[in-house]
Amino acid sequence: MFSDCCRLLGRGSMFVFSHRQFTQLLDVDHSWKADLLLDIGAGDGAVTEVMDRHFRSVHVTEISPIMRRVLAGKGYEVLDAHKWMEKKELYDVISCLNVLDRCDCPLALLENMKNSLKIGTGRLILAMVLPVKQYVESGK
Ligand SMILES: C[S@@+](CC[C@H](N)C(=O)[O-])C[C@H]1O[C@@H](n2cnc3c(N)ncnc32)[C@H](O)[C@@H]1O
Repeated sequence: MFSDCCRLLGRGSMFVFSHRQFTQLLDVDHSWKADLLLDIGAGDGAVTEVMDRHFRSVHVTEISPIMRRVLAGKGYEVLDAHKWMEKKELYDVISCLNVLDRCDCPLALLENMKNSLKIGTGRLILAMVLPVKQYVESGK
C-alpha cells in the first residue's frame, strides 16, 4: 500500500495537533488523567504519542499490518480494526484523525464510535480534510 511505503520511509507522519492544542481541545490541564483512549486508524502512532500520557491504557486500530507492528512496538494494545466494537469497551476519548475519508464504511465507523464512548463524559476527537474526498486504499 502507498501509505505503508511512506511510513516505512519515515515520510508519512502527520502533524495534527500539539500537546498544548490537545489539552485546549479537551479543556483539561497538563495533569489530567483518564482511563482509556482509543485511537482509530492510528497510523505510525505519532499523533497517539501526543495524547498517550493522559491515559492509563491506550488502544489503537489499524488496517495496515506494517503499522500494526509499529504500534505494538510502541506498547499500544492493537485491536482488530473490524471487530474492536465487539469488546463493548467504553472509552473516555476516541480519536479518529484523518480516517473517515480513508475507510470504506465511514457512517458505520461513526456509529460504532458514538456507541463506544462513556455515557455523558466520553469525547470524540475527529479530524477531517475538507472538502471530503474519499480515498480508500483497502476495502470496497
Ligand atoms: C491519513 S492516515 C492517518 C493516520 C493517523 N491517524 C494520523 O492522523 O497521523 C489514515 C490511516 O487510517 C488507516 N485506516 C483506514 N481505514 C481504516 C479502518 N477502517 N480502521 C482502522 N484504520 C483504518 C490507514 O491504514 C491509515 O494508516
